[in-house]
Amino acid sequence: MHPRVLLLSGNAMVSRLMTTAMVSRSWDVISIEVMVYDLARMTSAAEAQVVLAQAKPNYVIFAAGSMSNPFAVDRDAAKSFMHASTAAPSVTKFLFFSFPGSRRNRAPWWSEKEYEQFLSEKNSFPDIYQAKLEADEYLVALAEKRIKEGGPPFQAISLRPTWMTNSRGTGKVRLGRAGARGQVTRQDVAAVAVGLLSRNDTHGWFDLFQGDVEIEEAIEMAVQGAINSIEGEDIERMCKLLQ
Ligand SMILES: NC(=O)c1ccc[n+]([C@@H]2O[C@H](COP(=O)([O-])OP(=O)(O)OC[C@H]3O[C@@H](n4cnc5c(N)ncnc54)[C@H](OP(=O)(O)O)[C@@H]3O)[C@@H](O)[C@H]2O)c1
Repeated sequence: MHPRVLLLSGNAMVSRLMTTAMVSRSWDVISIEVMVYDLARMTSAAEAQVVLAQAKPNYVIFAAGSMSNPFAVDRDAAKSFMHASTAAPSVTKFLFFSFPGSRRNRAPWWSEKEYEQFLSEKNSFPDIYQAKLEADEYLVALAEKRIKEGGPPFQAISLRPTWMTNSRGTGKVRLGRAGARGQVTRQDVAAVAVGLLSRNDTHGWFDLFQGDVEIEEAIEMAVQGAINSIEGEDIERMCKLLQ
């Protein structure tokens, strides 16, 4: 059976590219625009639950983003959908769009220069940084809780592309242990997102840059190597956020 996918927001540039890839796989894609929804006005998981009850998705993708209102959209609306999705047994995958700098600690694989790039980006976009980070950590905590409570399988995926461009896709990326700031095409990001969702063994944080590894191979390498960009962060502390 083909999955039903709720795409929030289907209008995002990367979403349009994902939609093409998902429809070509005969996935049933429902976009939030169909329901005419202002995510910034969403104030609770109960409201997200109503949307889920109408859309009945198996997978939820949160691709909305607002530079002007990140706390309402990238954090609060995302968290409402994360909460509602992990509470819904029929939702088995949640993909959140974040970015490589969404972390508290220096990534163990970063060079000094990459660490400086991270600090500079964090200082330049403090609200986006805080909003994405809080949502990222919340998803980790909720997914851990669902697993601990013996709930149905759930893949929590934070896809973390660096700055996206609209250039033609290259089909090649660097996934997982990558840099702090760089470029990647939206076409390649969309292909990685759909590739991750197509498998039942992908979960965790995936930093994403332009690279030299074919997309399918990059995903396979990340899975086989249990590569998770969350390495270096304190998962226990994240889980306590729910207490
Ligand atoms: N741009 C980058 O380089 C970059 C890098 C890493 C991660 N990301 C993240 O990746 C995702 C996709 O990025 P993108 O550049 O492809 O997106 P985008 O084209 O900038 O689109 C963002 C979408 O969010 C929607 N949105 C914003 N506020 C909303 C609200 N209150 N209610 C409903 N929808 C709302 C917009 O809807 P309208 O069309 O109605 O305005 C738009 O469709 C975002 O989450 C972004 O934060 C971006």
